[in-house]
Amino acid sequence: MTEKVFLVSGATDGIGRVTAMELAQTGGQVILIGRDRAKAERVVGRIKRDSGNDRVGFELADLSSQSDIRALAGRLNDSLPHLDVLVNNVGAWFHRRRLSVDGIEMTFALNHLGYFLLTGLLLEKLRQAPRARIVNVSSMAHRGSQIDLDDPQGTGRYSGWRAYQASKLANIHFTFRLAEMLDGSGVSTNCLHPGFVASKFAHNNGGWLKWAMILAQQLAAISEKKGARTSVHLAASEAVAGVSGKYFDKCEIAESSAQSHDKEARERLWRLSEDLTDFGY
Ligand SMILES: NC(=O)c1ccc[n+]([C@@H]2O[C@H](COP(=O)([O-])OP(=O)(O)OC[C@H]3O[C@@H](n4cnc5c(N)ncnc54)[C@H](OP(=O)(O)O)[C@@H]3O)[C@@H](O)[C@H]2O)c1
Repeated sequence: MTEKVFLVSGATDGIGRVTAMELAQTGGQVILIGRDRAKAERVVGRIKRDSGNDRVGFELADLSSQSDIRALAGRLNDSLPHLDVLVNNVGAWFHRRRLSVDGIEMTFALNHLGYFLLTGLLLEKLRQAPRARIVNVSSMAHRGSQIDLDDPQGTGRYSGWRAYQASKLANIHFTFRLAEMLDGSGVSTNCLHPGFVASKFAHNNGGWLKWAMILAQQLAAISEKKGARTSVHLAASEAVAGVSGKYFDKCEIAESSAQSHDKEARERLWRLSEDLTDFGY
């Protein structure tokens, strides 16, 4: 493990923060992606102290911004010899429709296009590692959802929850399509549901939704430590070496929704993602 390089997005809080901490405990180099310098410095300091691993650092990027993602990938491609594990963990639920700096609906921009673009830009670094892994944090919220590929950004009728569900389905489509593409390359990719986790998820919405979420989390959610288990398992366990193109729940392969196996939707989403990011794999 000592030579491994791990990169974790959304790592300054919640599931991502614990994932970064547990990966630091394996002894590898860990890079957290955060968007707030002071917070990132605090979290990195705590992880270094608690893990006893000094090879923990951070990079700053707003992962809903394509220019930030490109700049981040440029810095990492220049500085890293290789990348062993990319954990695409960042994600949020936006109750009200908002646009990213690129003019793209925020849920789609952050939760899906962010994974798509960052992974694509780092793929060569991943290929340079002996057996790299890409881990995409999805959710069981994808169940019962379909992506409206004629209006993926909800310009007609926007529902924050439906947009979130669709973005988590997009994470699975992305994983399955990427796994096919990477078959035989030595790079594997899987996605997961972390559980219902008592993190700061949805607190960004403020108002009644924030308090309803806090209450629900107090009543029914698992800890962030438990919520990070499947991510850490997929990032670091020998038990899943070579496993690719699967959806996991509680560290086990699980069945994702029928919609996630719709190959036509998967291809359309891939082409749309290439168009919206101006990036081809
Ligand atoms: N919590 C759950 O019950 C649950 C269930 C299923 C799936 N998930 C998935 O798990 C993943 C992690 O969620 P969580 O529960 O840990 O959420 P969280 O506690 O809200 O943490 C989200 C992390 O993402 C970062 N982030 C948000 N917007 C960003 C942006 N534009 N650019 C860069 N970083 C940004 C946050 O940064 P700051 O620290 O600066 O705020 C934070 O570090 C998400 O993909 C979510 O969909 C969560």
